[in-house]
Amino acid sequence: MVNKIAPSILASDYANFAQELHRIDQTSADYVHIDIMDGQFVPNISFGADVVASLRKHSKLVFDCHLMVVEPERYVDAFAQAGADIMTIHAEATKHIHGALQKIKKAGLKAGAVINPGTPVSALEPVLSLIDQVLIMTVNPGFGGQAFIPEMLDKVKTVAAWREETGYDFDIEVDGGIDDKTIKACKDAGANVFVAGSYLFKADDLASQVQTLRDVLNA
Ligand code: DX5
Ligand code: ZN
Repeated sequence: MVNKIAPSILASDYANFAQELHRIDQTSADYVHIDIMDGQFVPNISFGADVVASLRKHSKLVFDCHLMVVEPERYVDAFAQAGADIMTIHAEATKHIHGALQKIKKAGLKAGAVINPGTPVSALEPVLSLIDQVLIMTVNPGFGGQAFIPEMLDKVKTVAAWREETGYDFDIEVDGGIDDKTIKACKDAGANVFVAGSYLFKADDLASQVQTLRDVLNA
């Protein structure tokens, strides 16, 4: 699998989104990871589809939208119209994860399914044939800058083994506490899409920070 780096703009300067997207464009990053939080599924509130539509005018990179919202199926059309490329939804946030993922595919988006640290990985098994991406949360969602939870690596290994067994073609993404120390174990467990927020944006030179992650992946 091709390794992809997904800078999370949750850690960027919200008053300068256009400039922040331009900074990401200057790196070798593959995706822009956009965290949508509703203050209900998670305690924090971030941004919605209208913000994504505005961001779309400033970047051609893949928009990897991670919805931490209750009943995400309500927002499929809004995110499709806003220019999202991937819409990843939480198994815990809907009564109908299978139907919601079908709706995302029908809208022409790539579909991702994500689970919280406290959710068993078995929740993902029935939807693997439908999806383009599995996301294993490596922190509890809601905030950037939290410590990586190493126990989540077993879930990554399980999903990677299922992918091998079934032959289904999907990416395995990890999100939360990813830095130059934790990324290698995620790759070794089978992940190939790496979200990083605070690790990347704490540095002035975003490009060299992305490159450091790539160097660790390639070492
Ligand atoms: C957390 C978000 C993450 C967050 C990661 O709920 O899903 O995408 O931006 O931030 P770091 O990399 O700082 O843990
Ligand atoms: Zn995220």
